[in-house]
Amino acid sequence: MKIINVVGARPNFMKIAPIIEAISQHGNVFEQLLVHTGQHYDARMSRAFFEDLGLPRPDINLGVGSGTHAEQTGKIMIAFEKVCLEEVPDLVLVVGDVNSTMACTITAKKLGIRVAHVEAGLRSFDMGMPEEINRLCTDVLCDLLFTTDRIANANLRREGLPEERIHFVGNVMIDTLLKHRERAAMLPLRRRWGLEAGEYGVLTLHRPSNVDDRETLAGILEAVAVIAREWGRPVVFPVHPRTRACIERFGLEQMLETGEQPWGVWVREPLSYLEFLHLTMSARIVLTDSGGLQEETTVLGVPCLTLRPNTERPIACEEGTNRLVGNDPERIRATMMEVLAAPPPEGRTPEKWDGKAAARIAQILHDMVDK
Ligand code: UD1
Repeated sequence: MKIINVVGARPNFMKIAPIIEAISQHGNVFEQLLVHTGQHYDARMSRAFFEDLGLPRPDINLGVGSGTHAEQTGKIMIAFEKVCLEEVPDLVLVVGDVNSTMACTITAKKLGIRVAHVEAGLRSFDMGMPEEINRLCTDVLCDLLFTTDRIANANLRREGLPEERIHFVGNVMIDTLLKHRERAAMLPLRRRWGLEAGEYGVLTLHRPSNVDDRETLAGILEAVAVIAREWGRPVVFPVHPRTRACIERFGLEQMLETGEQPWGVWVREPLSYLEFLHLTMSARIVLTDSGGLQEETTVLGVPCLTLRPNTERPIACEEGTNRLVGNDPERIRATMMEVLAAPPPEGRTPEKWDGKAAARIAQILHDMVDK
């Protein structure tokens, strides 16, 4: 079976890594190619992850770069169609919910190629999120739907997707976290920055709904800066390029200039996979609008405030350490104070988040070949 694995943006890399490894353990049953769409291209958003995760160099890079949604999606589809026509794969495997995921799914399906989606069935029920549109379009077309939890299975069933397509395999991102946890713990970064375990927070922001509007972004940054000052400890903020561009466009740089006192918001460049894991695993609190980080903090047992009105990952609230807070500055302040005053919560690792999700996927694909 010839498989094309697709990646495009930062959150895809840690998901594909264990899948490539698990598939390669099935010897010559599979031939696999890695296609990078080039949706993310900065060294810190892409190459650093390939190095940390030991990913093979992409066989093909479509080099599409940034653009509006239609531009980016269209460019990926045009370029990926050529790849599919040339390589004639038996299966295209996509992960997550970024534009590359949806674009490659539509392209392959229209050529009659089977498509597998890893991380299927997640739903925020918020059509204002581009990712929700990507998730819905991808899942309705896919032949194999690999899910991370039972809530996702139920979502897919409710949408009428046939039972035989749905496979509850667990969470490949957690495969990667468990594999690299010890290595990440040994990095010298915290020591270099003078951060004691449990004595700092971590902030990440990149959702258009939080960063593209001046008032919203300023409100969040102000709320976090005020609490950090009151708490007397730093909140480290590795800034996504989209967010940095917004901060500069809105003239908000001065809000981040804390002069590196031992408290306040510490602005940093985006970190590599291992550096970021190293930082989050010992944080007292994480504030984020990321999807994946809600799941990672659940397994790490670190309290996570999700700065969004909804989540496609409710399991991280039901079983994990996650709390939905939205982006109202007063609510962020109040919840952050509450979390810092309480003992750290006991996280519970959801079913099948055990480091073996990718092995389950590879076995299901192998069984298909044998049929
Ligand atoms: C994308 C995904 C989002 C994911 C996020 C993780 C979609 C619709 N969005 O959002 O689901 O959570 O990645 O990071 O697919 N930029 C750079 N360098 C890069 C990449 C981007 O400077 O390597 C800047 C560009 O100004 C670009 C902007 O960031 O226009 C947004 O990039 P884009 O890939 O469109 O979306 P993200 O916000 O990164």
